[in-house]
Amino acid sequence: MVRALPPSDQCPPRLLEALSYALLSPGKRIRPCLVLSACEACGGNTEDALVPAASVELIHAYSLIHDDLPAMDDDTLRRGRPTVHIQFDEATAILAGDALLARSFEWLATGFRPKQRLRDAVVELAAAAGAVHLVGGQMDDLSSENSVGPNLAQLESIHRRKTGALINVSLYLGGLTAEAVDWQLEALSRYGDAVGLAFQIVDDLLDHAGETEKLGKNAGRDSERGKLTYPSLLGVPETREYAKQLIDSAIEAAQLFGDAGQRLEKIARFIIQRV
Ligand code: IPE
Ligand code: IPE
Ligand code: MG
Ligand code: MG
Ligand code: MG
Repeated sequence: MVRALPPSDQCPPRLLEALSYALLSPGKRIRPCLVLSACEACGGNTEDALVPAASVELIHAYSLIHDDLPAMDDDTLRRGRPTVHIQFDEATAILAGDALLARSFEWLATGFRPKQRLRDAVVELAAAAGAVHLVGGQMDDLSSENSVGPNLAQLESIHRRKTGALINVSLYLGGLTAEAVDWQLEALSRYGDAVGLAFQIVDDLLDHAGETEKLGKNAGRDSERGKLTYPSLLGVPETREYAKQLIDSAIEAAQLFGDAGQRLEKIARFIIQRV
């Protein structure tokens, strides 16, 4: 293949160090697990799903670096370590995020199989990561800080976009890899809708509960910043009940796959067991 770019000079060492720091730090890797488990639920070979699994984790890692920047949530601790802009500097953090985002698509476009579904995979991942979904959700999350008269519909929409969309597309990519049929993609989408929202609600509850040590990130930041969250709007008991209902409906969707859906069911249970 003739490449557009000359065989290249290497990535600057400091940038490479920041990329490894962000990507290899001890996160839960829940999105890659969802890609692999969705593939398995649909009867696919999980090894084939490693490429999209890595692609979604790259986007997640980029979104966390940028989420922590002073201009956004201004956080200093992530995964039990200083955030990337603290460990390195702001410019390096911004550039590391940019590089991870680009690398995700390079990786997906190069390695996704089956090739005839590559276009769908790229389009859906780009949409999930883009201005309507992840980035749009992040934008509205920031503009809702200290908002007056916040409402539930607005909050649900923010959570579904900033967090739910990438979770949803993780399931879709696992399904595509397995060449899932329509009912399977529909069941994955039902599962993803429920788990995607529940995951961010649980994240809100954990921040509210205030256990910095356990979380590896500074708890209590949401209320400090006046974020619009479920516990702030509904209170803790009602929020927990809502998260449980969502997880129950995700489990129902996972059970449509029979034994093959067991791992999806376990992940859903894991999410609610965190609170
Ligand atoms: C944190 O995501 C940000 C949210 C979208 C809630 P995770 O809780 O998956 O973070 P890591 O990857 O395990 O650190
Ligand atoms: C982050 O939501 C969502 C994305 C990174 C897209 P939060 O701001 O609640 O995540 P944490 O709590 O900092 O991990
Ligand atoms: Mg945020
Ligand atoms: Mg944050
Ligand atoms: Mg949070």
